[in-house]
Amino acid sequence: MKKTYFITGGCGFIGSNFVHYLMEQELVERVVNLDKLTYAGNPANLKQYDNDRRYHFIHGDICDKKIVEQIFDQYKPDYLVNFAAESHVDRSIGKPEDFIQTDIFGAFTLLEAARKHGLERFIQISTDEVYGSIVSGSFRETDPLMPRNPYSASKAGADRLAYSYYATYKVPVIITRASNNYGPYQYPEKLIPLFVTNAMEDKPLPLYGDGKNVRDWLYVEDHCRAIQFVIEKGAVGEVYNIGGGNELMNVEITRTILEHLGKPESLIRYVDDRLGHDRRYSLNCEKLNKLGWRPVHVFEQAIKDTIDWYREHEDWWRPLKTGEYLEYYKTHYKTLS
Ligand SMILES: NC(=O)c1ccc[n+]([C@@H]2O[C@H](COP(=O)([O-])OP(=O)(O)OC[C@H]3O[C@@H](n4cnc5c(N)ncnc54)[C@H](O)[C@@H]3O)[C@@H](O)[C@H]2O)c1
Repeated sequence: MKKTYFITGGCGFIGSNFVHYLMEQELVERVVNLDKLTYAGNPANLKQYDNDRRYHFIHGDICDKKIVEQIFDQYKPDYLVNFAAESHVDRSIGKPEDFIQTDIFGAFTLLEAARKHGLERFIQISTDEVYGSIVSGSFRETDPLMPRNPYSASKAGADRLAYSYYATYKVPVIITRASNNYGPYQYPEKLIPLFVTNAMEDKPLPLYGDGKNVRDWLYVEDHCRAIQFVIEKGAVGEVYNIGGGNELMNVEITRTILEHLGKPESLIRYVDDRLGHDRRYSLNCEKLNKLGWRPVHVFEQAIKDTIDWYREHEDWWRPLKTGEYLEYYKTHYKTLS
């Protein structure tokens, strides 16, 4: 049977990739995308569906109970996937309020509507950052959450609130905790698109601290497949880690970018470290692997494809690197050398 998906934050990086993924599938009846269009939301990511009767864009806030209720009434979604969030750690350190509002109160508004109207699955997109930093080994889903900045703390709040709606009200919630995504349509404030586009313009690449913070990298299309997999095969009330199996230091990613673009390492600028910067994230993904999911993209190729995508889509990122973003960039990255 064909299904209706209610996507929130579908104009952002992962959300828009997920909408593209869904629109290629025959068993999708309709995709309803509720997005507030913050600085990170870009309707250009999905403009090809403007006249597609399967795609419905609604401009609005997930904290707005009235709009959320209207969507449930009108479209009767089978699945809700909550991507909408303030997502940039640096911004959460500067101005936490928006994070508490959207990431926690927004999730609450959606969960309340789901409780009232009912649906088949409520997928809360959480993050590996809720576990905090780990020196060695990898976090399992049962490990305690130790978020260390306002972004990860607000995501942890939403993660556990979603679980409470399963435990208390039997809302069919599943929570996913993915590692760092990379791929097309990522706003150029995050490490990979920022460094690729800066390097293309021969501008400095501001690398935090000693550059040795470790992240696991997951290609966004693998993440999209994992979300769909969890909808079909996951158990309600469960948490699933989703990792790419590619742990790298930030300086290694930076060198890969420079090498692929044929740019010199002298573009690297070591800058003051982020406050409370988590040293390493690492996920144990056995639980999802045992169900049968594995990433299919090989990092060495997918990172080149990603760099090439930004190289070939200057018309997409250039307008984003002016105005408000530029002001923010100037005040937040103090060059050390
Ligand atoms: N990017 C990553 O590496 C990563 C990794 C793991 C988990 N996540 C999670 O995945 C989700 C998507 O991340 P992303 O990188 O695509 O984020 P993003 O910042 O690129 O996009 C967020 C989207 O949400 C929208 N939005 C923000 N506030 C809203 C509100 N109040 N109501 C409706 N829409 C609103 C924005 O307009 C934007 O389109 C987030 O929940 C994030 O925490 C991201």
